[in-house]
Amino acid sequence: MKVLISGSHGLIGTHLAKRLRHAGHETGALVRREVRYPDREVAWDPASGTIDSEGVAQYDAVVHLAGKSIAGLWTRSHMDEVLRSRVDGTHLIASTLALLGDDGPRVLVSASGVGYYGDRGDESLDESSSTGNGFLAMVCQKWEAAAQPARDAGIRVVHPRLGIVLSHGEGFLAPLTPLFALGLGATLGSGRQWMSYVHIDDVTRAMQAMLEQDDLDGVVNVATPEPVTNRTFTKTFASVLGRPAFLRIPEFLLARLPGGMGQEMILVSQKAQPKGLLDHGFEFEYPTLSSALVACFKHG
Ligand SMILES: NC(=O)c1ccc[n+]([C@@H]2O[C@H](COP(=O)([O-])OP(=O)(O)OC[C@H]3O[C@@H](n4cnc5c(N)ncnc54)[C@H](OP(=O)(O)O)[C@@H]3O)[C@@H](O)[C@H]2O)c1
Repeated sequence: MKVLISGSHGLIGTHLAKRLRHAGHETGALVRREVRYPDREVAWDPASGTIDSEGVAQYDAVVHLAGKSIAGLWTRSHMDEVLRSRVDGTHLIASTLALLGDDGPRVLVSASGVGYYGDRGDESLDESSSTGNGFLAMVCQKWEAAAQPARDAGIRVVHPRLGIVLSHGEGFLAPLTPLFALGLGATLGSGRQWMSYVHIDDVTRAMQAMLEQDDLDGVVNVATPEPVTNRTFTKTFASVLGRPAFLRIPEFLLARLPGGMGQEMILVSQKAQPKGLLDHGFEFEYPTLSSALVACFKHG
């Protein structure tokens, strides 16, 4: 398969391209700058709505990962860009695929997140669960909905709703690792909120399956079957690093972070279940938090 990836230089894109090439697929990158390698790059600019559709037509599938990172201070302009970069980029790709029809890629894997479900306490969340409230839930809804032109054109569209991706020195673990290594790991708020996480290798294996298996369609939760509470996460991470973690940051401090980011990114409780993947016989290589963290630090 020839697979075109947006956001290919990000955390998931880098690992995914490696896995796909290792499995014998060809990969190309949608780039927001001038094309340097025409045989493996296609130009686009989601902000101005331009894309080289002839270049896109050379591929069999698109994996769409691009979007402004949700990390950073949640000011109004940051939040606007988080939303706009996802909705505009997805709509541009989906309508391009729809216009190309049979002459273009017939599969679109377009990222989303378990943020779709909002703050749900102890509720178990599978793909049929309703959407929640809050900024990230709204972003995920609009992000997924923006792929509608491709769905309407009969293109197979898969939305991996990703949990927190665990990868050594990158993404979520990057800022936490030095703190935990110094024994400054802390339980956040009550520590009772559920965290849905997944090792990067399981993310890329799941995405490869989405590209290769025609019966994987629609929304697919990509988080391990064993979510943990924040308290368990803190204890497990500290113990994998051989450090103590006695600290606790009170909820009222976190709740004051701008734009509701403390509530939505730190105190939020999401207990997602990967029903779709398990029903398709997918086996997680790292189903537990300790196995995922040990793998991160062993191979990192
Ligand atoms: N990592 C996680 O824990 C996690 C969890 C849930 C959902 N997700 C979602 O999965 C996707 C991939 O995640 P990731 O961790 O690989 O993200 P990442 O490392 O932040 O990479 C995202 C890529 O998006 C592109 N990008 C950045 N700002 C942009 C903007 N303003 N407009 C358009 N494109 C922009 C960049 O690629 P180029 O410079 O190549 O264009 C960047 O490398 C993201 O949409 C993310 O929200 C990730």
